[in-house]
Amino acid sequence: MTILAKCIGTSNHGFAQYAQEEIRRLFPAAKFTLLVPTEVFMFEVPMEVQEVLTAIKEQEPIFLRHVQPVHHEWDLSRSDTDLDQLKTWLGQVVSLGLIGHGEKIAVQVRKEERADVPYAPFAVKAALDEVIVSELRSEPVVRQSDRIVSVYISANKLFAGISKPADNLSDWSGGAIRFHKEEDQISRAKFKLLEAEQRFGLDFSYARSALDIGAAPGGWTSFLLERGLRVTAIDPAAMHPSLYGNPMLTIHKKNAGDVKLRQDEFDLLVCDMSWSPRQMGRLVADLLYALQSGGTAIITVKLMHKKPFQTIRELMQMFEPSLFLIKAKQLFHNREELTLYLQKM
Ligand SMILES: C[S@@+](CC[C@H](N)C(=O)[O-])C[C@H]1O[C@@H](n2cnc3c(N)ncnc32)[C@H](O)[C@@H]1O
Repeated sequence: MTILAKCIGTSNHGFAQYAQEEIRRLFPAAKFTLLVPTEVFMFEVPMEVQEVLTAIKEQEPIFLRHVQPVHHEWDLSRSDTDLDQLKTWLGQVVSLGLIGHGEKIAVQVRKEERADVPYAPFAVKAALDEVIVSELRSEPVVRQSDRIVSVYISANKLFAGISKPADNLSDWSGGAIRFHKEEDQISRAKFKLLEAEQRFGLDFSYARSALDIGAAPGGWTSFLLERGLRVTAIDPAAMHPSLYGNPMLTIHKKNAGDVKLRQDEFDLLVCDMSWSPRQMGRLVADLLYALQSGGTAIITVKLMHKKPFQTIRELMQMFEPSLFLIKAKQLFHNREELTLYLQKM
């Protein structure tokens, strides 16, 4: 029997080609089929599926936001037969011991817009939750599951697979992580830093003093203040009025090229400047003297002219040897940017 791993990969809209390029570097024999142009694709690799997922987790592609294995697929009947087939499959998987009794299971269902089926994703989830309760005697969960059952409904087919959340790179359906918008939230940009905190497993409360370059209107600054940090914010644009007068905050209403800071003043540097990567890189490199050795830097990079891998290489040439790249990742809230997680040497 030929071994063939099938997976569905998801990237931010417009970036699937880069995720595919990274997957091809990991698995030169990979074959791709687009499901949603520029965003969702199927890939096949002549290996065991778990080997593929493990290799992806260990050398995580920058532009692959989410991956789900496909263990079974059906042609769509476009009737309730689809739900019956899924239920039978999950029942078999349970009886084969592929899911342990008592494990917490999350069912995630995605449906393409062009999939013309008479049931909604929540009806698919409800049908599978029934199997989880009756066969597994377990409570279906949404977060913090032991396993995820992923169902993907394309224009013609139904795909299903089971994996551990870490193997999917994100435990959110399709990697589309959602945060609750607070009433007094200054900017949606805050979500980028929240997502970076989760995705990179950061604990900002260990830092004491942060430099926020390109800080206005202050979403990141307010987030760091909430985490108990002292913050110095640099931006020629105005910060949100609610931030003025905060004793933990120093504001330099200036271009980043015009500020003088103290040597080793900060243990965290963040930069979310929507400017050309080259200009941003130069400004950040010139301020690196203010970041202590061992300090963390979180930097968003605008992908203006595409060629993202070249952009990262050029930026790292500006930052090295002062900064070491721990991880580069395009986050869900990045849209057309990516985020670098670095450490000062
Ligand atoms: C995307 S916004 C930052 C949003 C911010 N992170 C937040 O959470 O509210 C980009 C900011 O970079 C600032 N910026 C652009 N060029 C700059 C420069 N040379 N020096 C300092 N700030 C700059 C802009 O004025 C703008 O306010």
